[in-house]
Amino acid sequence: MYLPLPSSILPITLALTLLLIGWLGWANERDPESLWAPGDLSQYHAEIGTCTSCHQAFRGPTTAKCVGCHSLQWFADISEATVKEFHQSKIRNGRSCLDCHTEHRGRLGQIVIGETGNPHGEYIFLATGTRSCTDCHAFGSGPGKPTMLLENDLSRSLFAKGSGAHQPGEFADCLQCHVARSQ
Ligand code: HEC
Ligand code: HEC
Ligand code: HEC
Ligand code: HEC
Ligand code: HEC
Repeated sequence: MYLPLPSSILPITLALTLLLIGWLGWANERDPESLWAPGDLSQYHAEIGTCTSCHQAFRGPTTAKCVGCHSLQWFADISEATVKEFHQSKIRNGRSCLDCHTEHRGRLGQIVIGETGNPHGEYIFLATGTRSCTDCHAFGSGPGKPTMLLENDLSRSLFAKGSGAHQPGEFADCLQCHVARSQ
């Protein structure tokens, strides 16, 4: 069977081929990785030889690739109890690792980002119209001090809004169920 291709396919293919040839030539002359990679990998991952350990073709870094190494068993073997349970539940829920981890920030760069003390992400502000953590919380001073939820109209209405899905102690990780509307 003969399937006619649109006539525009030829010039596009030609352009892409030229681009590829051009890139290959250019990349050979320089350090090929520096063309693609935005910055050095962290000390934790510097030993990883191939980009495809974390990157999937056309999709960028994926959670499935991370979990290929950082499996349920990996956390059981390596991590403290709380970190282990936290991550095993993220893996089971299919939560994206990239919400809280990054890469290519340089050899000494930290790859645990942003949300360390904020389990809700920016979503909390978008969804509730609040501007500060202290609209809903009192924070103990010093590391390891607990975060207290204030009993006010904001928190009460948040529990009510879930139509049953907002269970006390169970719904701090908003992005597990909600998609942030803008970043
Ligand atoms: C340990 C896992 C890991 C390895 C190995 C790795 N990357 Fe990445 N890369 C990431 C993560 C995570 C991000 C997303 C960073 C962000 O946006 O916070 C990223 C982002 C990028 C980006 C920015 C565009 C995008 O897809 O988000 C490029 C380009 C990139 N990596 C190229 C490379 C190249 C080239 C290599 C091989 C030399 C490589 N990476 C190896 C984890 C990795
Ligand atoms: C090829 C295996 C491999 C892949 C794939 C991989 N990692 Fe790692 N990762 C490691 C090893 C090994 C360490 C170092 C463990 C140690 O130092 O005990 C590490 C360490 C880490 C750490 C600890 C950093 C710290 O501050 O202690 C984080 C966070 C992490 N990886 C996240 C990720 C994420 C997110 C991805 C996917 C983008 C990923 N890793 C992909 C092997 C991998
Ligand atoms: C909601 C935020 C969040 C998500 C999602 C998340 N992490 Fe983490 N991760 C953290 C924080 C915070 C730490 C630091 C914990 C500590 O050291 O107390 C951490 C630590 C780690 C470590 C080091 C563990 C150790 O015991 O040294 C690895 C490896 C890691 N994360 C991988 C992953 C992978 C893989 C995923 C995706 C399945 C993921 N993380 C998802 C926040 C997150
Ligand atoms: C609109 C109200 C609201 C705002 C604003 C808010 N939170 Fe929360 N936060 C909650 C609620 C509700 C819970 C308890 C959820 C539950 O019971 O599972 C919670 C729980 C937490 C927890 C405990 C998580 C756990 O797993 O036990 C921490 C830590 C936290 N918030 C930090 C923050 C930080 C940091 C900010 C600011 C970036 C913030 N929150 C902003 C409503 C809010
Ligand atoms: C276990 C899943 C789950 C988690 C975690 C969760 N929600 Fe929800 N949420 C729901 C469901 C289900 C509804 C009801 C949706 C509906 O009625 O259409 C809802 C409704 C809402 C609504 C009202 C409807 C809307 O989209 O405006 C708001 C606001 C909301 N959630 C905010 C939050 C915030 C903030 C957090 C984190 C503190 C959170 N949710 C965590 C499942 C969840």
